[in-house]
Amino acid sequence: MLHRTRRFLPVLLALPVGAGLIGAVAQTAPPGGNPLALTYTTPDATHGQVLAGQHECASCHGGGLVTSYPGLPSLAGQQPSYLRLQLAAFRAKLRPNDTMQKVAAELKDQDIADLAAYAATLSPGPAWKADDALRAKGAALFNAGDGKRNIIACVVCHGANGRGDDRLGVASITNLAPEYANRVLHEFKDSPGFPIPYPDAMRVILKDYTQADLDAVVAYISSMAP
Ligand code: HEC
Ligand code: HEC
Repeated sequence: MLHRTRRFLPVLLALPVGAGLIGAVAQTAPPGGNPLALTYTTPDATHGQVLAGQHECASCHGGGLVTSYPGLPSLAGQQPSYLRLQLAAFRAKLRPNDTMQKVAAELKDQDIADLAAYAATLSPGPAWKADDALRAKGAALFNAGDGKRNIIACVVCHGANGRGDDRLGVASITNLAPEYANRVLHEFKDSPGFPIPYPDAMRVILKDYTQADLDAVVAYISSMAP
């Protein structure tokens, strides 16, 4: 069976993984070439905005990097550490997606850091429409999990407002596009495993989630903030 997961990173098995994802995006590349390590100086958000124009990020990710397609992620308000890691992973062809692999192939390390800094200056997009009952169920799972089923609350890492944590590499998921959210949660959940800790955290957390649970959390995270 073909396992198409967006972040199955077999190459990384050969890398020193002790430093984890944070290490993987450390500013100095270790000798031997960790494909996710980036080297850059202080990120320049203004230059990031220029690059976003040159590479037409908005043609897919939307004006102000807020998407209007439910199947495509917004980049506005995303945590820079997460965004850098994803662009590095597309560029290294460790995260599958032909379109983004081509886009990322044109970016230098400094460009990635500048684009991430620019996206972080923007506010996340507006809430998507969601079914009230589903949303309420999702809010309960997000905030409290389900002790009886050993389900951990999303709030522990993503925060009450869903904005994640730059230092810990936790993505912002506030008002995430719903079809993309469902797809990406399956990519974590259905993966046989990740050799680095952070995507693996998501995989482990979602292990006991049913599709009904996923539908509920997607309804909630896609409509978190007014
Ligand atoms: C032709 C369309 C297209 C263009 C242009 C494009 N992207 Fe993307 N991008 C996508 C698609 C499709 C995905 C979703 C990939 C997936 O489902 O895994 C994506 C995903 C991403 C992600 C992952 C987001 C997440 O939440 O994990 C980042 C980061 C990203 N793009 C950055 C950029 C940047 C920066 C630019 C401009 C330099 C850009 N993209 C230009 C189509 C595009
Ligand atoms: C133990 C910490 C932790 C918990 C608990 C957690 N997450 Fe995550 N989540 C992360 C990290 C770290 C990432 C970034 C993963 C990566 O780098 O690929 C992430 C990424 C995501 C993404 C991908 C965002 C994108 O733009 O592609 C989604 C969606 C998500 N989490 C939703 C959830 C939901 C829903 C829950 C609760 C069911 C949850 N998370 C619980 C740590 C956590």
